Amino acid sequence: MLPFLLFLLFLTPHYFTHSLNQEGLFLDRVKQSLSDPRQSLSSWNDRDDTPCNWTGISCNNSTRRVDSVVLSNMGLEGPFPTLLCRLPSLSSLALDNNYINGSLPVNISTCQNLKFLNLSLNDLVGPIPATLSQIPNLRTLDLSINNFSGEIPASFGEFRQLETLNLGNNLLIRRVDTHFIGKHFHSESASTRI
Ligand SMILES: *[C@@H]1O[C@H](CO)[C@@H](O)[C@H](O)[C@H]1NC(C)=O
Ligand SMILES: *[C@@H]1O[C@H](CO)[C@@H](O)[C@H](O)[C@H]1NC(C)=O
Ligand SMILES: *[C@@H]1O[C@H](CO)[C@@H](O)[C@H](O)[C@H]1NC(C)=O
Ligand SMILES: *[C@@H]1O[C@H](CO)[C@@H](O)[C@H](O)[C@H]1NC(C)=O
Ligand SMILES: *[C@@H]1O[C@H](CO)[C@@H](O)[C@H](O)[C@H]1NC(C)=O
Ligand SMILES: *[C@@H]1O[C@H](CO)[C@@H](O)[C@H](O)[C@H]1NC(C)=O
Ligand SMILES: *[C@@H]1O[C@H](CO)[C@@H](O)[C@H](O)[C@H]1NC(C)=O
Repeated sequence: MLPFLLFLLFLTPHYFTHSLNQEGLFLDRVKQSLSDPRQSLSSWNDRDDTPCNWTGISCNNSTRRVDSVVLSNMGLEGPFPTLLCRLPSLSSLALDNNYINGSLPVNISTCQNLKFLNLSLNDLVGPIPATLSQIPNLRTLDLSINNFSGEIPASFGEFRQLETLNLGNNLLIRRVDTHFIGKHFHSESASTRI
């Protein structure tokens, strides 16, 4: 019997220690996917039970799920961390003024609960994903001051809740047919840098 119990304990090394919840594990992987020369994420300690006290992270007070990730002005470098979309209650995401690079993945639309997204002032290139309009409650979208190129997706006419859109200072092609812009948005918000 004793050898059997010892065997079980050996198999369950976390039995006597606290362990980070699944959302914390995802965020820990996000941290590992980014270069953080200023050590902005040093409070992200994988020995905590939850990520709720980590720099830039806020959780819903009743569900304790992560609802906001605000990592503005932290000098973070690397690709857009799509893994954040695995946080099912994430409604606010700000990564503005960092060095987020490469293109924005089409599967950013799996961030289904986003209401606020600010990616301004990064190094993003390539097309703006048309799938952004599939995020049903998106109210604020700021992609300004990057190097997005190509056209503004036609699907952007399908946003239901959008109140603020800023695509300014990118390399977008100005479309003559921007009928949806005048209707909902300030024209300056869709200004282009050609
Ligand atoms: C967060 O920090 C506060 C104050 O330091 C502490 O009371 C609380 O237990 C911490 N919560 C978690 C989930 O670590
Ligand atoms: C926290 O989550 C509950 C349950 O989903 C929701 O009703 C409530 O509005 C949330 N609170 C905030 C401040 O978002
Ligand atoms: C959540 O709880 C914290 C600490 O108790 C409080 O400061 C904050 O205002 C609460 N947030 C909401 C949205 O209720
Ligand atoms: C993005 O930044 C990271 C970290 O600085 C770098 O290793 C990577 O090569 C960059 N990727 C692109 C596409 O520029
Ligand atoms: C997004 O971030 C930029 C740069 O930090 C800031 O100037 C801008 O006001 C933010 N946009 C919104 C809609 O909050
Ligand atoms: C999203 O797509 C990228 C490639 O564009 C892929 O590397 C990543 O695993 C995908 N993420 C999720 C959460 O599906
Ligand atoms: C963005 O475009 C500018 C002007 O064409 C160029 O100087 C800069 O290197 C580009 N940056 C990135 C990250 O593509």
